[in-house]
Amino acid sequence: MPPRKIIIDTDPGQDDALAILLALASPDDLDLLGIVAVAGNATLPQTQRNIRVICEVANRRDVKCFAGSDKPMSRPLLTAEHVHGATGLDGIDLPEPTMPLQPQHGVDFIIDMLRSHEADTVTLCPLGPLTNIATAMARAPDIIPCIQEIVLMGGAYFEVGNITPAAEFNIYVDPEAADIVFRSGVKLTVVPLDVTHKVLTTKTRIDAFRAFRTHLGDVVVAWLDFFERFDVQKYGSDGGPLHDPCVIAWLLEPHLFSGRFINVEIETQSPLTLGMTVADWWGVTDRTRNAMFLKDIHADGFYALLTDRLSRL
Ligand code: RIB
Ligand code: CA
Repeated sequence: MPPRKIIIDTDPGQDDALAILLALASPDDLDLLGIVAVAGNATLPQTQRNIRVICEVANRRDVKCFAGSDKPMSRPLLTAEHVHGATGLDGIDLPEPTMPLQPQHGVDFIIDMLRSHEADTVTLCPLGPLTNIATAMARAPDIIPCIQEIVLMGGAYFEVGNITPAAEFNIYVDPEAADIVFRSGVKLTVVPLDVTHKVLTTKTRIDAFRAFRTHLGDVVVAWLDFFERFDVQKYGSDGGPLHDPCVIAWLLEPHLFSGRFINVEIETQSPLTLGMTVADWWGVTDRTRNAMFLKDIHADGFYALLTDRLSRL
């Protein structure tokens, strides 16, 4: 089986960083066509820098990195420095990247890749606000039937919101973009907080990266130590939820997950519940089912996969 072609769209973000590393550590399974930065956890100048910092930590200066949208489709940008730090990738000081940022706009790269590859062969992996994906769909509707699948980190239902009582950050930052993606008809797999809050960065799990005794292992530990502090204080949990690597883990070992194919729609009007993923988990409406909404994960299996793959870098 040839490796699956993917594009990662991301707003690093320490958890985004581990997702990118997991993809880079899995070349037999994943053919990473490119990484596109979006504004989210931090501003675009920071996130487009961060994707290159991450690639250089993995000694992968060959990866094509692009800058995408610098703000949501129709709202002011909301960032999350309170979680990820001023750079979006706080925890350890790393050299400014020297690998190039590609001159093409990231949205145009997504469009070009979907138009130039055989239909149903490219999967999009958004790990931040859906601005780039929705902008590509709006600018070039012909690409929609070409997309093999969208596997995204975002949303929440049983776990409720993390940036408001009703909404998860990625969806909340650009709910109009999320609405376009969820209504697009593209095969959609959603990795919500219901899953990611079950994969906490416990001490034992962080110590497994520390045991690498490599620069990469030390960088991962520093990122996770910084990243988890906010959620540990907020939830009183034994570690922070490692959100974005779950998207890549789904591609590698989907058997680690379970969920239901249901209707999921996005609230775009109500100030109280803006950005909520309204998931018809119990089938109480006749709304069209449009998403595989994941709910559970084998946490130890996820960390075994993540640790094993990252140890190969
Ligand atoms: O709500 C969690 C999501 O928001 C993750 O993708 C995290 O990186 C932030 O982007
Ligand atoms: Ca993210």
